[in-house]
Amino acid sequence: KADCIVRSCTKMEDCLIENQTTFYSKAEHYWKEVPPTVDGMLGGYGSISSIDINGSKNFLHKFLGEGQGKTGTGCALDCGAGIGRITKRLLMPLFRTVDLVDVTQEFLDKARTYLGEEAKRVENYFCCGLQDFQPQPECYDVIWIQWVIGHLTDDHLVEFLRRCRSGLRPDGLIVVKDNVAYEGVVPDDVDSSMCRDLNVLHRLVARAGLNIICEEQQQNFPEEIYVRETGQ
Ligand SMILES: C[S@@+](CC[C@H](N)C(=O)[O-])C[C@H]1O[C@@H](n2cnc3c(N)ncnc32)[C@H](O)[C@@H]1O
Repeated sequence: KADCIVRSCTKMEDCLIENQTTFYSKAEHYWKEVPPTVDGMLGGYGSISSIDINGSKNFLHKFLGEGQGKTGTGCALDCGAGIGRITKRLLMPLFRTVDLVDVTQEFLDKARTYLGEEAKRVENYFCCGLQDFQPQPECYDVIWIQWVIGHLTDDHLVEFLRRCRSGLRPDGLIVVKDNVAYEGVVPDDVDSSMCRDLNVLHRLVARAGLNIICEEQQQNFPEEIYVRETGQ
């Protein structure tokens, strides 16, 4: 079958993903069963949401503003947005308008009520897998991609980041915030994703033709979320 990847292990993902179609459809099924709540978005760790958002705010503030080299505050794109947890508390307060993209329609439906009055500043709710999503050219000041890249294959992630690059306005930023593995690539069969280590991620970002201008580790998450993987 055309969608069948040979287990040759020439690339990291080939060892992990036997069938690309199944990799994506399993994830879609997984997320359809997840309640449309902050707890659901964070795998039961809803309590870390404020720490996460405050860390992101401090990070983003360094780049936004007016003047030479500063990133604008016109429009942001929330990728793998879910119910709009990040849109509501991070992006809406900072940007004039926000677009959301997610593969799970139920989450986007929930976002309309979850965002309350502010939902009127959402211009688009795109129900689409990031592997297929094409941002409008030169549309966004910030493209925020959090806790979703593990759902894309290496090649799709690279291509998606390339498309994001052309979706940026001058001085625009792509922010990727995600878990990283201690070493290598660790598959998660439950939600059909994989967690990559920083070196692997750096290589993919470089393949997309992007430069990393800043990298930080989120502080103050509770100890129990740093689980050592037992995967390969
Ligand atoms: C862990 S939740 C994170 C949600 C949000 N980024 C947050 O931090 O609150 C992962 C989200 O990614 C979405 N998702 C999974 N696979 C996706 C794909 N291929 N393309 C777009 N969204 C996807 C799920 O529907 C879910 O909303």
